Amino acid sequence: MTVPVNPLREGLRLARTPDPAAVVIFGGSGDLTSRKLMPALYDLAHLRQLPAAFTIIGAARGAMSDEAFRAEMHDAVAAFSRHRPLNEEVWGSFASRLRYVSTGGTGGYDELKHALEASDAEHGTGGNRLFYLATPPAAYAPIVRSLAQGGAARGGGWSRVVVEKPFGRDLASAHALTEALFEVFLEREIFRIDHYLGKETVQNILVHRFANGIFEPLWNRQYVDHVQITVAESLGVEERAGYYEQAGAIRDIVQNHLLQLLTLVAMEPPAAFDADAVREEKVKVLRALRPVAAADVAARTARGQYGAGFVDGDRVLAYRRELGVAPDSETESYAALVCYVDNWRWEGTPFYLRTGKRLPKRATEITVQFRIAPHQVFSREASAGLEPNALVIRVQPEEGISLKIGAKVPVQGVRIRSVNMDFSYGASFVVDSPDAYETLLLDALRGDATLFTRRDEVEQQWSFIDPIVEGWAAGSAPLGTYDAGTWGPVEADLLLARDGRTWRKP
Ligand SMILES: NC(=O)c1ccc[n+]([C@@H]2O[C@H](COP(=O)([O-])OP(=O)(O)OC[C@H]3O[C@@H](n4cnc5c(N)ncnc54)[C@H](OP(=O)(O)O)[C@@H]3O)[C@@H](O)[C@H]2O)c1
Repeated sequence: MTVPVNPLREGLRLARTPDPAAVVIFGGSGDLTSRKLMPALYDLAHLRQLPAAFTIIGAARGAMSDEAFRAEMHDAVAAFSRHRPLNEEVWGSFASRLRYVSTGGTGGYDELKHALEASDAEHGTGGNRLFYLATPPAAYAPIVRSLAQGGAARGGGWSRVVVEKPFGRDLASAHALTEALFEVFLEREIFRIDHYLGKETVQNILVHRFANGIFEPLWNRQYVDHVQITVAESLGVEERAGYYEQAGAIRDIVQNHLLQLLTLVAMEPPAAFDADAVREEKVKVLRALRPVAAADVAARTARGQYGAGFVDGDRVLAYRRELGVAPDSETESYAALVCYVDNWRWEGTPFYLRTGKRLPKRATEITVQFRIAPHQVFSREASAGLEPNALVIRVQPEEGISLKIGAKVPVQGVRIRSVNMDFSYGASFVVDSPDAYETLLLDALRGDATLFTRRDEVEQQWSFIDPIVEGWAAGSAPLGTYDAGTWGPVEADLLLARDGRTWRKP
């Protein structure tokens, strides 16, 4: 039997070559451009997924010649592309469409306008423009205004703007940033990045739930005991102390990645896999999140900061000893919280979220733990090794899905042990997963905003997070400590222990 297809939905989010376009990357000389954006664009060119007519203009305030920019990007692509060694023929064609414009001095935006007009005239980019804001966030609004004032924002075709995270640092600043973008762009032209949404395994959450008939009937408060979502990093703050000291784990990971993962696990089936339908369902989950009232901050959240310790056998410094971190810093490098989605499907089911730096390993995973069987047929001794059924979605690394089930140990008599039914991307598919930035850049070029965050989503996320940040600033949920290389502060364990549960070890 073939699976019936809704003819109205055919072709949605299927690969199609994007229109000709000029891509302008603000922050063209920055770290993100070198490590992620340019390698992703090159990889798309390598796979022939970019339009035949396209150009890339790197823009930043500093001066640089086109040749110097190309040389810098050559080295970046050679180091970070997933198609190495670099194919010099593909690179040659790619590099011939690269330019650099300095927007620093007076006349910088005029020069950008001329470069875009030249791109249309010489490369046939058709007046379509994709602007990518990869600068420090304080520059986003001024850049967009300068674009409009310089007449470079529109060229007769479509114009879109991709905005890197962080999108604001609270509700008020996120709102103000959207208002500033609205001076020049419409909501449907604004693509707010949460790069987690570009990851294959994150998209696979929706495929897993909605392309299969067997999981959805169990996906509710009746059968699910609780959900755990973990974003664990083994790295410390690295060179990002300037940003991280202001953000902490709650702004860096919880407000965006963790809440986005929660929406994908908890959302209702959308009518279609398109931007409006998917985002409509996601925002309903965010609206249904039970707010963390000031009086609940201590009971529903935990935070901590790493001390010195060992990660992968190496001795590492305490957070407060890291370069650029204040010696008396109160910034949390770990955050955990209990969320409730107050709707028909999830009423009373806890969603435990946690993230931290300098944990024992890098792992992002979602565990949906099911209730135990209603009646124990087997003896207590026989079932001693049995754990509750759990579906574990591993987002990174070793992407895949495991289902934990009880099985009979092959000995005389009955002894039950938990075993895993495993699906691994690496074993099942021969092709490498595209990098999240490839997916997202291609989607932005195609005008598909399904995997980008809408204004109301971002604002709901901040509305949920702001009271927690305020509670912490007022001294609720004191800052705990944990040794680097351990699974976080004891306060986070207590959060679950109160409910008679424990964190799963990834
Ligand atoms: N790096 C990452 O892995 C990463 C990951 C996620 C998100 N992000 C986000 O991406 C953005 C960029 O991060 P980054 O790490 O690449 O920063 P970065 O290495 O410090 O680079 C910043 C870039 O922005 C340029 N710039 C600054 N002000 C500008 C302005 N007014 N107009 C045009 N260009 C300007 C800088 O060049 P000039 O000084 O010459 O202007 C430089 O090219 C940030 O918002 C960050 O939060 C980065």
